[in-house]
Amino acid sequence: MANLIGDTLMTDERLDSVAIIMDGNGRWATRRGLDRTAGHVAGAKIIEGILEHFRAIGVHHVTLYAFSTENWKRPKREVDMLMELIYKYLDSVVVKKIKSDPDFSMKFLGDKSILSKKLREKCIEIEEMAQDRTFVCNVALNYGGRDEIVHAANAAFADGHTSITEDVLAKYMYTSHSPDPDLIIRTGGDFRISNFLLWQSAYSEFIILDTLWPDFSNDDIDKCISEFYSRTRRFGGLAPEDKNA
Ligand code: FPP
Repeated sequence: MANLIGDTLMTDERLDSVAIIMDGNGRWATRRGLDRTAGHVAGAKIIEGILEHFRAIGVHHVTLYAFSTENWKRPKREVDMLMELIYKYLDSVVVKKIKSDPDFSMKFLGDKSILSKKLREKCIEIEEMAQDRTFVCNVALNYGGRDEIVHAANAAFADGHTSITEDVLAKYMYTSHSPDPDLIIRTGGDFRISNFLLWQSAYSEFIILDTLWPDFSNDDIDKCISEFYSRTRRFGGLAPEDKNA
């Protein structure tokens, strides 16, 4: 059971890290007769409130899948719009947030080298503005799980490691500063991982919601939290109640 403090749902050390595949922006827009890009704008608008709610209930790491290594295959117009939207969001909302909130920080997961110079520099500026803070939002940007594993192996070899272990590889992952996700939520109803956190999701709990990302609400979060606490995580072992059977 999740803890209830007063009427408020609070997480504990069992649920400290959540990752989200923010899917359904395009469908949200087309259902309203709007251009797909309007869905991305609506999707960006809810992010701050969602992060605040996770934080309020005790989660310290939230990882958002913003743009994958495969998303470059989308029409150029949509890619350009998404990159500009992300840049503007970082430059306005995120910079202001980091300045005004001493507990908030943001890191980027993925290969920054092929981002535009202005976006790459904004990401680096934001990472340097806030370190070792209690809340981390990881934004997966030009991120691919397979690419991350190959990148980590190459970086480990370049640093002089001659053999790879799980511990060595984990240190070179883009996520080395955050625990593996306890819970991965996917909006938009599709049952797939889409090259997201392939290494880190080994024992994550998955929740798939039909809700489209721009409609994702604090109520949805609370339902996901309750569902998470109703599950027994065994990590390949046995549940405590089965050990003496
Ligand atoms: C997937 O929905 C969504 C994306 C590829 C982009 C996610 C971006 C945002 C939520 C906004 C910008 C992010 C930040 C961090 C400011 P889709 O377009 O594939 O939806 P569909 O499955 O309905 O087509």
